Parts: sequence; structure tokens; C-alpha cells
Amino acid sequence: ADLNLEEIRDTLVSVAFEAGRKILAANPNDISTGTKLNSADIVTETDKAVEALVSSTLAEAYPDFAFMGEETFAPGQKITDQPTFVVDPIDGTTNFVHGFPSACVSLGLAVGRVPTVGVVYNPFLDQLYTGIRGQGAFLTVGRAWGLENGAGRVSRLPLSSNPAGLLGLDQSLVAIEWGSDRSGSNYELKTAVFKKLAAAKDNNGGAMVHSLRSMGSAALNICAVAAGQLDAYWEGGCWAWDVCAGWTILVEAGGIMASGNPGDWDPAIDNRKYLAVRGAPSGQRELVQQFWDVVGQGAME
Ligand code: IPD
Repeated sequence: ADLNLEEIRDTLVSVAFEAGRKILAANPNDISTGTKLNSADIVTETDKAVEALVSSTLAEAYPDFAFMGEETFAPGQKITDQPTFVVDPIDGTTNFVHGFPSACVSLGLAVGRVPTVGVVYNPFLDQLYTGIRGQGAFLTVGRAWGLENGAGRVSRLPLSSNPAGLLGLDQSLVAIEWGSDRSGSNYELKTAVFKKLAAAKDNNGGAMVHSLRSMGSAALNICAVAAGQLDAYWEGGCWAWDVCAGWTILVEAGGIMASGNPGDWDPAIDNRKYLAVRGAPSGQRELVQQFWDVVGQGAME
């Protein structure tokens, strides 16, 4: 049967707002049983409570859909062709714990393994990003705060322009993330990529990349690329729930997600490197090519 994607989007938005209220009301110091992989891989009681809220609400509304969430993921679980909600209850948990206002609820729906609906909500700034495959992507600011008679200020993505009007990696603003994995080959790769990006020179011998940013949330990085506020975002080690929701928003804004495992972005896959690149104003393919020229193809394979 045909899915009513608008209705699914609306359901995800309402659960994202409810989750947002929970996050704002929570005590971020409630770091639970400790940490997951290591002391930088933090989970709080709020992550778990929000995932429980999201999964129970969605199970009631869409009992036939599968569910994959960061806090309940069991190794071996795979995304199938069945419609699957792919959920990060708090993307940017470290920021949440530190009170750094860059964290979000990231709610995606994959259909036939393709990211199809995305809702990303930062309750601290009341910024809501939404996208439906084939129907565009939008940023709504201030809806929960009651701006514009409660509708919020809605803008289609990308935002009207890349203010600097820049075209290539030359003079771009690029996001990277450390993640929590600080050892082994992934750590070595990340360090090498960051260093190469920082050191890259333009034709005049000046710095190529304007600067590097880390917002501490994969989903918010991807949405910022969709908005055109960042030109690119690369990370080695993202999980499906970090990228699923933002992916639809990015593509609907004209951006692209280059994945090391295109078509197979399952958490079961070890190779989870992603490069998100903005669409507007132009020069997307050149930017991608320059990126690989600078960092090396190993950052993708
Ligand atoms: C993490 C954040 C972080 C990124 C990691 C993610 P979490 O998600 O998005 O910025 O570097 O790869 O796992 O743990 O806060 O949900």
C-alpha cells in the first residue's frame, strides 16, 4: 500500500516536539549506568527515556513498521526493505550533558532501505528540519515558541544563498567530528583527514578551506550542509541513526551524501564513512573532487 508520507512526517514532528520538551526538562547529569564503549561515549537516562517515548508512540501509530534506535540497537540488527524508523533520541549527547545547545532528536524513515522522511529537531534553538523524498526540505524556526502565530518561520532549504557565494572546497566551511572513538585505525584516519584539510593550500599558497567546525551532532551537521551554512561534512564512524533523517533533508535540498557503502548503510557494516556536500549555488562535483584530492580516497573506502 502507498504510504502517506505527509502523515508520517507530521507524526514524527509531533513526537519530536514531545521529545524536545522532555529533553529541555531533563537533568543532563543523569548519566546512566555509565558509558557505552568508553568514557567519551556517553548515554544519559534522557536518551533512553526519549527513545522509549519515540518507539512506543511510533509502534502504536505504525505497528507494521520496523524500528532501529541507537539505545536499543543490538549488533546484527539490519535495515531491511520494510519501512523502518531509524532513530537517534539525542544526537549530540555530549553537548546535552555539557549544556552546549547543539543537540537534536533525529527521526528518519527508510523505505526499501532508502531514506524517505527526515525530521531533525533542536529543542534548544527551536529549529525543526523536515524533508520528504521528492517534496523538498524545510527549516521551521520558533514553532514551539509560538512565533508567527504558532506556525514558526518556515524557509525552504537551502536557505536563499551561500552568503559568500563560494563554489569549491577552495574557501569552504567544512565540518568534521571526532566522535567518541579515539583509538585504532579510525582515529588515525580521522586525524589524518583533519590535518590534510587544515593544511590544504589554494593556488596562491593560502589556506584552501576557510575553517573547520564540529557541531557535535552528525544530524545537525548534515542539516547545516542542507541549509548551505556548511559546504561539506565528513565523518568516519557514523551510525545509521546519525545519518538517516538528515540524509533525506540533504538530498531534498539538492545536496548529496557520498557513502563509503552506497546502498548499504547498515550499522552491520564496518565501513561507515560519510561525506555530505551542499548543492547550491553550484560547483558541487568540483567540491567533491577537490575533497578527495585533498584527503585521499581512503577517507571513503
Ligand atoms: C554522535 C554525535 C557526534 C558524532 C558521533 C555520533 P550521539 O551521536 O553525532 O557528533 O561525532 O559519530 O555518534 O552519540 O550524540 O547520539
